[in-house]
Order: sequence, then C-alpha cells, then structure tokens
Amino acid sequence: MSSSPPAVSLEDISVRYRVPTERFGTFKEYMIRRLRGQVNHHEFLALHGVTLSIARGEVFGIVGRNGAGKSTLLKLVARVLKPSSGHLIVRGYVAPLLELGAGFHPELTGRENVFLNGTLLGHSQREIAGRFEEVAVFADIGDFIEAPLRTYSTGMVARLGFAVATAWVPDILILDEVLAVGDEPFQRKCFERLRLFRDSGATVLFVSHNTAQVRNMCSQAAWLEHGEVRAWGSTDEVATAYEVFTGGGAAR
Ligand SMILES: Nc1ncnc2c1ncn2[C@@H]1O[C@H](COP(=O)(O)OP(=O)(O)OP(=O)(O)O)[C@@H](O)[C@H]1O
Ligand SMILES: [Mg+2]
Repeated sequence: MSSSPPAVSLEDISVRYRVPTERFGTFKEYMIRRLRGQVNHHEFLALHGVTLSIARGEVFGIVGRNGAGKSTLLKLVARVLKPSSGHLIVRGYVAPLLELGAGFHPELTGRENVFLNGTLLGHSQREIAGRFEEVAVFADIGDFIEAPLRTYSTGMVARLGFAVATAWVPDILILDEVLAVGDEPFQRKCFERLRLFRDSGATVLFVSHNTAQVRNMCSQAAWLEHGEVRAWGSTDEVATAYEVFTGGGAAR
C-alpha cells in the first residue's frame, strides 16, 4: 500500500480569506459599496505553508484548537474551497461530512434527504432506493425518517448524515467533528464502519477534539496551530505534543 501514491497531498498550501474591516447596515449597502470597489478588506491567512501527505487506506487524524484551520483544510480536500497558493492533489472520489446538516434540507423528510444527498454524491435514484433500507437501519432514528429534518435532534441529524455518507465506500471520507454529537453506542457503530472502510482501502480524514478517539482510530495525525502544521507523524507523538500544549490553552 505504501508504494501507491498518496490519496491526498498538500504542498506549501495557503488559504487567504478576505474579511471586511467595516460593518454595513444592510446587505444592499454592502453590495453597492462592493460594486463601487469601496469595501475595505483585510486579508486573513487561515492556512499558511501547509505541507502534508495522507496515504491511501489511512485514517488520518487532524487536531488543533478552535480556529486553527482544520475545517478549512477539509474544505480544500472536498474541493469546496480553492487554495490561494500551493499545490493540492486529491486522488479519488470524496464523500464529505463537513458540518452538521450540510447538504440536508430542513423541510424535507429524512427519506427525501437521503435521496437528495445520494444524488449529490453522484448516485442514481435506483441505486439510492436499493440502499435506502440499509441507511435507515444504520441511522436508527425510527419513524423520524418520515418526518421533516427540522424536527430532528442534533444527534439524529448526525446519525442520518453519517449513514448516508458511508452507505457507499468512498475513496476518501471526510469527517469534521460529526461524531462528537452522537451517543456512545452510535459512535461505536461508526468507528466499526470506519475500520471496515480502512481495511477495504478507503482513506479517512478525521477531525476531532477528542484525542482519545484520534489515538484509537488513527495511525498518523497532524496538529494545526494558527494555520500552520505544528506536528505531523505518528498519532501518539502528535496527540501527546498537542495535549501538553493545550494543558492550559484556550482558543485564539
Ligand atoms: N469564510 C471565511 N472568511 C473569513 N475568515 C474565515 C472564513 N472561514 C474561516 N475563517 C477563519 O479562518 C480560521 C480557520 O477557521 P477553521 O474553520 O478552518 O478553523 P477550525 O480549526 O475548523 O476551528 P473549529 O475547531 O472551531 O472548528 C478562523 O480564524 C476563522 O475565523
Ligand atoms: Mg472546524
């Protein structure tokens, strides 16, 4: 497996966000000023010179404090965002679970959302119909599968999101803290599924604030701090360094 090219490689990647430096009363006012080129921005470097490579078939952990750049990195891999500079290669089909409820519509039922999401992931109506029962059983939310998503608890949204994103084995699965809101039995079930994925050669990018889970699931990990890679290597070393660092730390 080590001879195959990495599933993801980032080389000297930076992401620069433009943040307006003034407040606007209305969106209309903002747009008019923007069209006239009168909006002042400052640039914010969310990622700076990030170099990482993630081998195929690896469950790769990413840790770091709030605002460190973890979700930004995942968005690059999901191709939701383009880097401002640097070189990014993603090999394969990506199933992203970026944030809770992303890709779901609050007024549609669970069932309808499964079809919507399956379609977004590139599957045909027939393929989705063929998997639907399996998704519903895994999500295990009972009759709520026929109720609008807005009536769901946070954990129920996460259950359905995970169930549909993992109904097909992707080349690369992206998980941005989605398991944090699931109860313990559900988390166990998810980790079992992730191990199956790993054993079948899928790559998983796993962002979590729970270093115990990262140690348990990942062999390699990276620690991001202020948009830069502070450590990258064996999970044990990275998690220990991060835990020592955050001993009394807070978000920036
Ligand atoms: N669209 C945006 N415009 C401007 N700044 C942004 C934007 N999105 C994120 N940022 C900034 O980029 C930095 C990194 O954000 P990111 O969401 O990647 O952090 P994170 O590590 O995922 O944090 P958390 O643990 O809170 O989820 C933060 O300082 C954030 O304020
Ligand atoms: Mg985040």
